[in-house]
Amino acid sequence: MCGIVAYIGQQQATPIIIKGLKRLEYRGYDSTGISLFNGSELHTIKTMGKVSDLVAKFESLPPIAAQIGIGHTRWATHGVPNDVNAHPQKSNTGDLVVVHNGIIENYASLKEELIHRGYTFSSDTDTEVLINLIEDVQKKEKVKLGKAVQIALSQVIGAYAIVVFDRKKPNELIAARLGSPLAIGVGTDEFFVASDATPFLEYTKNVIYLEEEHLAIIRSDRDVSIRKITNDKVIKPYVEELQMSLENIQKGGYDYFMLKEIFEQPQAIRDTLRGRLLSDEGVINLSSLREHENKFLKAKRIIIVACGTSWHAGLVAEYLLEKFTRTPVEVEYASEFRYRDPIIFPDDIIIAISQSGETADTLAAINIAKERGAFVFGICNVVGSSISRLTDTGCYTHAGPEIGVASTKAFTTQITVLSLLALHLGMVKGTLSRSEYQHHLLELESLPVKVTQILEQESLIKDVAATFREASNCIYLGRGYNFPVALEGALKLKEISYIHAEGYPAAEMKHGPIALIDEQMPVVVIATKKGHYDKVVSNIQEIKSRKGRIIAVVSEGDIRVKELSDHCIEIPESLECFTPILATIPLQLLSYYIAVQRGCNVDQPRNLAKSVTVE
Ligand code: AGP
Ligand code: GLU
Repeated sequence: MCGIVAYIGQQQATPIIIKGLKRLEYRGYDSTGISLFNGSELHTIKTMGKVSDLVAKFESLPPIAAQIGIGHTRWATHGVPNDVNAHPQKSNTGDLVVVHNGIIENYASLKEELIHRGYTFSSDTDTEVLINLIEDVQKKEKVKLGKAVQIALSQVIGAYAIVVFDRKKPNELIAARLGSPLAIGVGTDEFFVASDATPFLEYTKNVIYLEEEHLAIIRSDRDVSIRKITNDKVIKPYVEELQMSLENIQKGGYDYFMLKEIFEQPQAIRDTLRGRLLSDEGVINLSSLREHENKFLKAKRIIIVACGTSWHAGLVAEYLLEKFTRTPVEVEYASEFRYRDPIIFPDDIIIAISQSGETADTLAAINIAKERGAFVFGICNVVGSSISRLTDTGCYTHAGPEIGVASTKAFTTQITVLSLLALHLGMVKGTLSRSEYQHHLLELESLPVKVTQILEQESLIKDVAATFREASNCIYLGRGYNFPVALEGALKLKEISYIHAEGYPAAEMKHGPIALIDEQMPVVVIATKKGHYDKVVSNIQEIKSRKGRIIAVVSEGDIRVKELSDHCIEIPESLECFTPILATIPLQLLSYYIAVQRGCNVDQPRNLAKSVTVE
C-alpha cells in the first residue's frame, strides 16, 4: 500500500529519494519519512501528511550530505497516522532503520516477547516490532545484517516489502519481500530500491523485480546478491530492461492523471489489441492461452475473483463468457471468496482480474484456488506484479501505468482482454459461428475510434457535471451488459467526488429504491439501443413521473429518451457486448468534472490508495 524508495551509490541520496517518493505517493499517503547516513550520523526526518510536508521539514534543517538513504510514504495499518508512527522505524539502539510495506500479522506476540527481553517501543506500528526483532537476532546470533533479517523474517507471519539499513555497516542495504512488490534499479555503481520502477526510470532502465520470499543484499561496490529467505538458496538475479518511459508517468498537460488516463483509452485499447487481434488473418492470438486452451474447453465452470472496478469488469465478463462459450460463470468478491472455504472442483478455471496485480484479497483468493487445484488465469496491468507471477498464466492489459486512484483505462482494457478471451474460446468451442466471430472482431477493432468520438463530447459532459455538482446522492441504472456499467459509474462518482451513489439493475427500482426518487435525486440511466431498450425507457418514465432528474447515456440519434431526459449524452452504436466499453467513458468524464468542480483531489481521493495491498 505504501511507497518505498531507497538509494545507495555516488550521488546525493536526498533529492533522488524525495522525487521518487512523490512519484509513489498515489500508493498510499498518510505520512512519510526518510533516513540518511552522512558517513557518521544517521538522520531520520519524518512527518504526518504528504511528501511536500516532509520537504518543508527538510528546509528547516541544515543540508544533509548522504549517499545512502531509505524513504517511505505510509498508508497505516497499525498505529494512527502521525509523526511517530511514520517510517522509517528505528531499533532500540538506533543503529537499524527500516521502511516497510504490508502487515506483520503476528506482531503482537513478537512484541510481547521483545518487551520481555527488555525492548521498548515508541510507536504503535507493527513495523517497529520487526526492526527490533532484527536487532535482537543480530545481537543473539552475532550474524551480519542480511542473515539477521533472514532469520527474523522466518519468524514473521504477514506480508512485507522492506528495506533495512544498519549504520554499523553503512555500505549496504537489505531488501526483502513477501506479498508486496519491490523493484531494484541497477545503475553504474549505484542501486535504487522502490515499490515500482517509476522512481528510478531516468537513472536506469535495468531492473530486478524481487521475487516472493527473496532477500537482496545491495552494496554499491558489487553486484546484488539474492537468496531465498526460507532456505538461504542463492538466486541468480534476473535483470530485465524497463519498458516504461518517463513521459508515461508525466501528466502530459492534463490537470490530473485520471483525465490523462481517460483520454489514453483509445491508445490503451489499441495496445491491448495489438498482436492479439490479427484482423488481416481474421483471428485472435492469445499466446499465453495456447497451451492451456483445453482446460478452458473442458471447464464446467469459470470463477472470476477481483475487487472494486476489476470486479465490475468481471461482471461484464460473465455476460461475455456465458454468451460466447456457454460455460457457467460465477463472479466473486475476492475478499468474500477467500474466507468462505469455497467449493472448487479440479477442472474449475479461476480468472483473477487486477490492475495493480498487488491487491491483497485477490492474491489470497488465488492462493486458495491454487491450493485446491484450480487453474488460475490472471488479467493484470503491471508487468512483474505479484498476481502476474502467482497465476498459472494470463494476459496483460497493456494499458500503461495507471496513476490515478480511480481506475479508468484499466477497466476498459480489462473488458477488451476478456472480450478477446470469450470470442476466441467461443470460436474454438464452436459455440460462436465464424461469421459472428468475424463480425465481432471487426467491431472490436473499431472501438478505439468510437471511444475517441465520445471523448470529443468532453465539454458537453463538463456542462452536465456543473448542474450536479451540489448533489448529495445519485442513482445509476442499467440493464444486462450495462448493469455493471451502472455499478462502475456509481463507484467512480463516490470515490472521487464523495457523493453517495448507488448502481442498480434498472428493473430493480420498483423493489424499493424508487422510494428515493424526488426532484433532488439525479438518476443516470444507460439507455443504449441494444440491451432491453424499451424496458429501460419504461423505467425512465417511472422516474420522470416522480420528478427524478435524468441524465441518459443513449445511442447516437436517439430522440425518444432525449425527450424524456434532462440531459443526454450520445455514444456511437456498437454491438451489445461492447457497449460497456463505450458507455463507461461518459460516466468517467461526468464523475471527473463533478469532482473537480467540487474541489476534490481527483488523483488522490481521501482515505483511498491506488493499490490495496493490505487487508
Ligand atoms: C477503482 O476505481 C478503485 N481504485 C478500486 O476499486 C480498485 O478497482 C480495486 O482496489 C481493485 O484494484 P486492482 O484492480 O488493482 O486489484
Ligand atoms: N503496517 C505498516 C504500518 O502500519 C506499514 C503500512 C504500509 O504499508 O504503509 O506502519
